[in-house]
Amino acid sequence: MIATADTDFARAVVEGLSQHPRVIPARYFYDRRGSELFEAITRLPEYYLTRTEVALLRQHGPDIARLTGKDRVLVEFGSGSSAKTPLLLGPVNPIAYVPIDISADYLFDAAEGLAAMHPGLAVLPLAGDFTASPALPAAVADAPKLGFFPGSTIGNMSHRAAVQLLGAFRETLGEEACLVIGIDTRKDPRLIEAAYNDAAGTTAAFNLNLLHRINRELDGTIPVFAFEHRALWNDSLGRIEMHLVAREAVRFKAAGHSFHLQAGESIHTENSYKYTLQEARLLARAAGWEPLNVWTDPDGLFALHVWAAEPNRIET
Ligand code: TRP
Repeated sequence: MIATADTDFARAVVEGLSQHPRVIPARYFYDRRGSELFEAITRLPEYYLTRTEVALLRQHGPDIARLTGKDRVLVEFGSGSSAKTPLLLGPVNPIAYVPIDISADYLFDAAEGLAAMHPGLAVLPLAGDFTASPALPAAVADAPKLGFFPGSTIGNMSHRAAVQLLGAFRETLGEEACLVIGIDTRKDPRLIEAAYNDAAGTTAAFNLNLLHRINRELDGTIPVFAFEHRALWNDSLGRIEMHLVAREAVRFKAAGHSFHLQAGESIHTENSYKYTLQEARLLARAAGWEPLNVWTDPDGLFALHVWAAEPNRIET
């Protein structure tokens, strides 16, 4: 049964598993089960990112409001459950909130919840892929924007893709825009590896869920038990890599195609680049943003950056 063969997921899996080294694009992690497992990751003791970023937002919300000024439209890229948004909505008090997310169900539920919590705030959800530069609602065209891109999601892109995306944000948000962006810092690799290879095995379950998803949705026959989760710090590239490694030689079918992996062969599923404060500022400038301020926790685990749009001008 190959009813699945022409979906994006099927095409991506067949193409990715036919490459060497083998890959599966990370966007397929987030089916229902994957989203639940990721929520669980954000609560793990080893996963310092979420709680540190939340503490920084709580502590510096008022600083951000002072720095960026009044009467902006808050635009959140990949808003999901909008769990961190109230930490900015309170102090910044925007005139409207535009959450953008590819998962429409999540988006409209979260938008309703926030609208109920903030009577008088215009909430204008936009269902779509934020990497595709969706046009903002015409109603907010003239107001200055405040972009919000938390969670160090920028780290899941290559440097080239990161600069391209941040440049697209600059275009979407327009003149006078500011951007609040959470970026995980470069630090002791042992702390990073622990955050992506927790003792309870939640990250392993999250990574392995990709294989279960292939079995569920693409008529896969992958012996999931024959794979193990591996998180490896790549020092020369400044990133943590997630792999699924075959413990033994495996053969399986997926989306109507046959695959054969040797013992020890890996499927590369995700990268998470880490940036020093200086590297993050270089990223900003390369994409048309001027760094305004940055806050970190006392241990320097995570950074909350605020950037301003460089004015459009003729290049000389
Ligand atoms: N943006 C998150 C990060 O890089 C996503 C993430 C967390 C993730 N844990 C993961 C992606 C494990 C793949 C595998 O921290």
